[in-house]
Amino acid sequence: MPPGEPVPGIDNYTIGVRQFRQQILPPGLPSTLVWGYGSTFDATTFHSPGFTIEARAGRPVRVTWVNQLVDGDGHFLPHLLPVDQTLHWANPAGGVSGRDSCPMFTTTPGAYTGPVPVVAHLHGAHCSEENDGYPSAWYLPAARDLPAGYATVGSFYDRHRAQAADRLAVNWLPGTAVCQYPNDQPASTLWYHDHTLGMTRVNVHAGLAGYYLIRGGDWDLPPGTLPEPAPRHGGLPDTRHHEIALVVQDRSFNRDGSIFFPAGRGFFGDTPPDATFIPVSDVPPIWNPESFGNTMVVNGRAWPVLAVEPRRYRFRFLNACNARTLILKIAHNPLAARPARSALPFWQIGSDGGFLRAPVQLAQLLCAPAERADVIVDFTGLTVGTELYLINEGPDMAFNGAADATPADPATTGQVMKFVVTPLTSPDTSVPPAHLTLPAPRPATASDHTWKISLNEMRSRSYPQAPATAMLGTVHADGTANPLRWGAPVTETPVVNATQTWEIANFTADAHPIHIHQVQFQITNRQPFGGSPRPPESWETGLKDTVIAYPNEFTRFTARFDIPGRYVLHCHILDHEDNEMMRPIQAVLARP
Ligand code: C2O
Ligand code: CU
Repeated sequence: MPPGEPVPGIDNYTIGVRQFRQQILPPGLPSTLVWGYGSTFDATTFHSPGFTIEARAGRPVRVTWVNQLVDGDGHFLPHLLPVDQTLHWANPAGGVSGRDSCPMFTTTPGAYTGPVPVVAHLHGAHCSEENDGYPSAWYLPAARDLPAGYATVGSFYDRHRAQAADRLAVNWLPGTAVCQYPNDQPASTLWYHDHTLGMTRVNVHAGLAGYYLIRGGDWDLPPGTLPEPAPRHGGLPDTRHHEIALVVQDRSFNRDGSIFFPAGRGFFGDTPPDATFIPVSDVPPIWNPESFGNTMVVNGRAWPVLAVEPRRYRFRFLNACNARTLILKIAHNPLAARPARSALPFWQIGSDGGFLRAPVQLAQLLCAPAERADVIVDFTGLTVGTELYLINEGPDMAFNGAADATPADPATTGQVMKFVVTPLTSPDTSVPPAHLTLPAPRPATASDHTWKISLNEMRSRSYPQAPATAMLGTVHADGTANPLRWGAPVTETPVVNATQTWEIANFTADAHPIHIHQVQFQITNRQPFGGSPRPPESWETGLKDTVIAYPNEFTRFTARFDIPGRYVLHCHILDHEDNEMMRPIQAVLARP
């Protein structure tokens, strides 16, 4: 991402959200109207997913995020996809006070057609609350025709603007938010995406996501690529030519090239689990429990081809799908029976928040929504012209961890991208992955408290044919679930500078990738209800910000908050996050 105006001591960006066309489908097929981020200084940088922001550990990045969802005449643009007005969402029509509406009182049928709120979040970032993109800190574009009586900003926006004015001495113009990320965390693979209350799934699905890499510091990286190389961690493929960030997403397209997103409940044929009734409005919802596309898109291209030399590559994988869990493999024949034999192993060296303790050789990568895998793939010795396929054996439906789930359709979503081997152009000086020495995270200190969280699915009284919502809540003293809505008072108040345990009890039938803001945590164990605990997987030994919580199990991790303030804890299946599987948390100072 190209920087904006220079500001001493920091990397300064101005990043807009715009609507534009992009050739996602193969040439000859129509282009697609998308939303994407880009530098406001260069219209050619607008792309979905957004260009990668490359940050240096210890050097702050400031971003002025600008909602530019207006047409050439300054009139607001409506959403590309159906926005469900029956959810608890960032409803600008909800009132001039900017109060986010409550579904009990939102009974507007049909999709919203007004101006679109956005708010950017840097996923995995260690930052103070006003920089974190709280779901209620949304803002409309500075359009000339905003309807009278509409709130132009969400309930947290003014508070964050005042905090930023204090700390950074910056002014926020209408339709913008200024966020500063200190990058006081290890070299890691972060990403930025929209986080607007109740419409994250459609804003991200329209294209609002991109990579943010932190390099350097005490924790990285290849010699020659940084002013201060750290040789003891050298030996990785060079960042300029042989490190490739890959954003994997599933999408569906209409015949005219536009993105398809269901505009009514039941599209994916969801069947109801037995669940408790909760009062929801009587308006038919648009929301579906999980959305799946039939086309795999990598870095904004459907089923792309990557030319690779016979050498080692570093790939940073991000699962940026709404709901799909990926199981990635490399195979000679994409149509071979599943499970396919892996043609080449992955050497995973890092996950969400930095490096693993040691490289691990894996035949496949399991990657739930929002998880990242930093891997080395060694194409050394392959004949020029060799074709290999990155395939996906995750299911075309909700993932529950069962080994016998039907894999994705090998003809469509079972394929992700293709590698074609081209001649070597320079010697490979990187170190074989088995010989890499990685910087281990500091071991966690003893935990002094456990926050008990429940995951639940609840059914609607009006629409009993499907779960109305996935919810996150607390756990009663007798071990049963206490589902809570987003709008219920805060129940989790982690104490700053204390190491505390989070125990997620999953009472639903599916796995949920659980994400918590501000911190990178360490997974302690998983434990089936009534069973014994097992340690984290070999690829989960580094710092994580998103963890798969399997059904009928406890998932435990320890985290140490060190900034007081308001953050969120949620499922990263975007459809769940948007419908109550998200709760506010408040990091607090220890009582004296
Ligand atoms: Cu990737 Cu709360 O988000
Ligand atoms: Cu979920």
